[in-house]
Amino acid sequence: MTLAMDPRLIAALLDWQAELGADEFIGDVGVDRFADPVAAAPAPTATAAVARAVPTPVAAPPQVAAPDPVAEARALAAGAQTLARLAEVQAAYPHCELRKGARNFVFCDGNPAARVMVLGEAPGDNEDRQGKPFVGQAGQLLDRMLAAIGLDRASPDPAQAVYITNVLPWRPPGNRDPEPAEIAMMLPFVRRHIELAGPEVLVLMGNHACQAMLGQRGITKLRGQWTEALGLPVLPMLHPAYLLRNPYAKREAWADLLALQARLEQP
Ligand code: URA
Repeated sequence: MTLAMDPRLIAALLDWQAELGADEFIGDVGVDRFADPVAAAPAPTATAAVARAVPTPVAAPPQVAAPDPVAEARALAAGAQTLARLAEVQAAYPHCELRKGARNFVFCDGNPAARVMVLGEAPGDNEDRQGKPFVGQAGQLLDRMLAAIGLDRASPDPAQAVYITNVLPWRPPGNRDPEPAEIAMMLPFVRRHIELAGPEVLVLMGNHACQAMLGQRGITKLRGQWTEALGLPVLPMLHPAYLLRNPYAKREAWADLLALQARLEQP
């Protein structure tokens, strides 16, 4: 807005300003004090716009690290110096959801001093009820297979005894396959279990035990081929549950049992 002003009034205003001390120019361009302040404001620079957009920093709340179930399992397992302690810390391990649906924690059966340790997959219904591995139909077949080469889980003599555990200590619902995350969480406990028991030979029953210990599947190819894990001789075998469904495969299982027996008889 431009105001038409009386030149005498303008002169009087200038005189008055000079008397107040405003007696020199400080800019080449006059400032229109009556202009719309918003419209007249210079366009903000990009830097100024960013500066306005960034909120004043407030103290961040302390970060709570998400738990790493596998790292926790490793630390717990490594801290266990006896099988009894390992069973305690594994049973109390909170990150595996399977524990919520299981009746019992299934840790082991047999003689921990045995030369032979058997690693199965997971408890089934009977194992879940009794809290012991391999006590159902597949377990009874396992006992007969071992008896055929003079081994017995109940033997007090380590030379004839067998020690048995599973990859998972809790029954998966509906006997479904173990999930990779469940195997990953339980693996540190399984490895420590084997270390603490210290068998001479480890038998891996079926695909899931091979997956856990060897990182491989394909039991019909792996079976009967001696390999190594944790510095131990390892023999993959067909799972007794597979043999119940595929009785013709008992021939291969028999060959593998003889290979185990021959290994145990080596001087
Ligand atoms: N099958 C397994 O692998 N483990 C058991 O304990 C029972 C059946």
